[in-house]
Amino acid sequence: MQFVITADPAAWAAAAAAEVAGQVKARPDSVLGLATGNTTAPLYAALVAMIRRGEVDFSRVTTFALDEYVGLPRDHRATCWSRLQREFYGQAALPTDHINHPDTQAADLAAECRAYEERLARCGGVDLQLLGIGENGHLGFNEPGTPFDSLTHIAEITRESMLVRQASYAPGERQPHQGLTLGLKTIVQARRAALLAWGSNKRAIVARALEGPVTPDVPASILQRHPNLVVILDESAAGGLGRRQR
Ligand code: PGA
Repeated sequence: MQFVITADPAAWAAAAAAEVAGQVKARPDSVLGLATGNTTAPLYAALVAMIRRGEVDFSRVTTFALDEYVGLPRDHRATCWSRLQREFYGQAALPTDHINHPDTQAADLAAECRAYEERLARCGGVDLQLLGIGENGHLGFNEPGTPFDSLTHIAEITRESMLVRQASYAPGERQPHQGLTLGLKTIVQARRAALLAWGSNKRAIVARALEGPVTPDVPASILQRHPNLVVILDESAAGGLGRRQR
């Protein structure tokens, strides 16, 4: 487990973008697993700036989204697709045929999960998987209790995870309670994984996930078993870790 700990979120974004750009420079046709959320927004902004300055070329990169909501049209402002479109794909002019999201409008969602897993395997698997972490330890929509051997599947989103995203919905609008997500087994099969967190609200769960017991009660704890994990934190998110990690 490798640690990068930065002074503040601005330095964090630069460090996280450098990790992604380093992967793409080393292998221009990399397959990247992309997370969505408040954590990754400044990372994508920093990456877009690098792409625009010509410091890294994403024209041969393939991306797979980590998760997507069930029950929303793709262009609803809260979907992972539209968020990544706003923050990254559109800004960086990524080739649209290299972008993969599970189709949550598919008639047979279980078949779509299998097809997504197969598409990922056909592309050779993920070279670098970006991962935010929920305050309850979730990875993607793998909420506490999800089996470690899970593949891409339909997941129930917990009430606490729904609350975190409430601001993306109009008052009274029905919020999705299900999503399609890469499974925990799929996630740890990535050749390299980056656990990303900044801010004091992630301090407790980062310590629990990385230094506590490896248990499905804390899905992100499975990352302790990943042979090639980089953890990129700012000082606030790293504050609960034991001294040996810092
Ligand atoms: P956040 O979400 O980046 O918005 O904190 C992370 C997650 O829930 O996985």
